Amino acid sequence: MNKFFVTGGNTLRGTVEIGGMKNAAVAIIPATILAQGVCVLENIPNVSDVTLLLQMLTEMGARVRMLGKKTVEIDTSYLCDPVVPYDLARNMRASYYFLGSLLGRCGQASVSMPGGCNFGVRPIDQHIKGFEAMGAQVEIENGMINAKADQLRGAHIYFDKVSVGATMNIMLAATRAKGLTILENVAKEPHIVDLANFLNSIGADVRGAGTDVIKIRGVDVMHGASYTIIPDQIEAGTYMAAAVATGGDVRVENVIPKHMEPITAKLRSAGAEIEEGDDWLRVRRTGPLKRINVKTMPHPGFPTDMQPQMAAMLTMADGVSIITEGVWDNRFKYIDELIRLGANITVDGKVAVIEGVRELTAAPVRCTDLRGGAAMIIAGLLATGTTEIEEIIHIERGYEDVVEKFTALGADIRRVTLPDAPLSKAL
Ligand code: UD1
Repeated sequence: MNKFFVTGGNTLRGTVEIGGMKNAAVAIIPATILAQGVCVLENIPNVSDVTLLLQMLTEMGARVRMLGKKTVEIDTSYLCDPVVPYDLARNMRASYYFLGSLLGRCGQASVSMPGGCNFGVRPIDQHIKGFEAMGAQVEIENGMINAKADQLRGAHIYFDKVSVGATMNIMLAATRAKGLTILENVAKEPHIVDLANFLNSIGADVRGAGTDVIKIRGVDVMHGASYTIIPDQIEAGTYMAAAVATGGDVRVENVIPKHMEPITAKLRSAGAEIEEGDDWLRVRRTGPLKRINVKTMPHPGFPTDMQPQMAAMLTMADGVSIITEGVWDNRFKYIDELIRLGANITVDGKVAVIEGVRELTAAPVRCTDLRGGAAMIIAGLLATGTTEIEEIIHIERGYEDVVEKFTALGADIRRVTLPDAPLSKAL
């Protein structure tokens, strides 16, 4: 069993280099299947979700070779199996991107029902609606989603709900459909644009990504290419929130400041001073940490994936902050863990009311999900004493070198491997 031990009280100072965006990489890696050739992906994040996807591709017949820590070469020329290995895929949300890419390339796909962070019900009806509109038959049987189509046809699809996953999955399949696909009410996150740019680099014809309407004209063949993944907006935001929480002074490098705007605006309201360069931001707080209200929304609104980190930061703000979750039904599981540390938070449905406290005190806590885990680190940095964080597997799904990066900023954080506890005789 692995744990983090975080001893609070240190102020974060220094420079941190942000890695490639996990949520872009987890779509672009399955998308290489469409290339039917050699792709070189640069700036891939060194996180376990990426490792898992590369393992899935290898088992399906692709050749995968690391060319350094952040570059991978993927040759999908001889990929032969449209079935994604069940045991690898079922714990991971993003494995569903294989549905779109395999349908596009092979006309059939079998992927286990997706896992991933538990934010309540996570339906995939919009993905299925899109595939069916393009002429695919989709069935769910024995925990697998099976899709097939003799020939995908372009279609006009209006999503009932703005969904990152459905937008990307249908984009993937549509690159090889016959004719024009028009997607309306789509997600506009930076990773949607990154996937579109990657697809165009391998020969697709995708227009409008980043706006409300995306048009994809299907092509017959696609080819390999080299592509650099964009920096991770949420990883950057996490270090920025940690800097503000501790009253620190941190420069985040390798970021796209435009992508950070919803986050920088809120951090400024909370009392941060933020300077911007071409690909860096300097975040400082010298005055008091002020109360703010945050409502999460699809891009360009405030990202739901930064909601727990903001909550952790606001546990010690002056006054009462209100966080409203506007994307997921149930994304406040981590709050109980913050309360163990002495935070004063009440949750009512999708609203959390945080009354700032003078002190947090260390306690054993667990990660309920990936970003909830990041919130535990931030709270641990604020708490008096040493906070023991369990189930860090969630954090390592999405944050590369997290101990090294926080340590370089002056945090006292250690990763410890402990022997698994023996089963109690009473059990
Ligand atoms: C992605 C991100 C996740 C982030 C989320 C919202 C990845 C791997 N994960 O998740 O970190 O929190 O975007 O920014 O990129 N919905 C439906 N039907 C569907 C699909 C979604 O009702 O078919 C609903 C969901 O329940 C949720 C909302 O739409 O309430 C947004 O979900 P979606 O954007 O699809 O999230 P993911 O792509 O799963």
